[in-house]
Amino acid sequence: MPRAVHHAADIEATLLREFLAADGGCISGAALAKVVGVSRVAVWGHLHRLEAEGFGFTAEHSRGYRLTARPAGLSPALVRAHLPLDAPATLFHSSVDSTNEEAERQLAAGRQVPFVVFASAQTRGRGRFGRVWHSPALGNLYLSFAFRPDLPPERMHLFTLWMGLNLCDLLTAHAGHGPGLKWPNDLHYGERKVGGMLTEARIDADHTRDLVFGLGLNVNTPDSAWPPEIASRATTLAREVGRPLDLNRLAAEIVTRGLSAYDRFLAHPPLDELAALWRHHDILAGRRVTVVQGKDTHSGIARGIDAEGALLLDTGAGRPLHFRAGEVTLRKE
Ligand code: ATP
Ligand code: BTN
Repeated sequence: MPRAVHHAADIEATLLREFLAADGGCISGAALAKVVGVSRVAVWGHLHRLEAEGFGFTAEHSRGYRLTARPAGLSPALVRAHLPLDAPATLFHSSVDSTNEEAERQLAAGRQVPFVVFASAQTRGRGRFGRVWHSPALGNLYLSFAFRPDLPPERMHLFTLWMGLNLCDLLTAHAGHGPGLKWPNDLHYGERKVGGMLTEARIDADHTRDLVFGLGLNVNTPDSAWPPEIASRATTLAREVGRPLDLNRLAAEIVTRGLSAYDRFLAHPPLDELAALWRHHDILAGRRVTVVQGKDTHSGIARGIDAEGALLLDTGAGRPLHFRAGEVTLRKE
């Protein structure tokens, strides 16, 4: 039995799922109408609306419709079409201050978790310590997952690293050549930053109540779009793999992987898997780094992380120093 679909967004995602499955082939209006449980005229209306979002369809006499064009930018219907039918809510904005901020507003308003907030652009995208995250509307991803876990707050550092490692793994599979993780929250190709993560939590009585995990990922922005101060330090997936990527398919894969990574983290911290991924994707291992903590700086060789995700720094003076993500920043040597 086809699942009953009622909302326009569900109907359109279902129609697109059929077109994606047909892989460029024709589908009859009658078949489409049957899948979504509406009239053929209504199907035509939905296709017409999707055309306004950048999709193209051709109608072929007696054979039906064919999908001939799809939007390159973020498309709610296309992201949903790439997600399983029972995926949690995905909310889309063409522009928002910050998806982390919007996720927090939705949590405060009582929205059911988990959910994911996307924006095509952000006007106040932020990184750690209130730094700016440049968020142009040029084919990048800005998204935030919202959860209500019941976790001790000290596990949060490890959570960001776990999510980052899962993303490195996914991007390696998706693009063939993935970034590495620069402790604690950056995704890098060599010296260039392709993405950043920002985990924010509301903590009551020693337990994490609301948890927002934000990801900014540079996907298809042309190099010329970066402000001069980051032009030599930023990169995009497209630049690194030598071709533009399918933004909407990637967005859906990130949602799926992010949700499953969260579930696995919550069930029991997957320490062995984390250690294995860490060995693969840690870009600081064995490198000389300087850690800035308030007015103090410490130089040494990065030696991985401890069980809580703190960076181990070998300063050559005996036991390694442990640094927690929320307190320090790394300075380039
Ligand atoms: P870094 O190591 O990159 O200097 P950090 O990790 O110590 O930064 P964060 O607050 O995590 O600091 O990241 C914010 C920094 O990321 C900004 O100060 C800017 O240099 C850089 N940045 C901002 N937007 C982008 C972007 N879209 N792509 C790549 N880098 C960016
Ligand atoms: C960093 O490198 O410091 C982290 C940057 C995190 C940016 C993302 S973009 C989506 C979400 N919304 C924000 O305002 N920040 C995160």
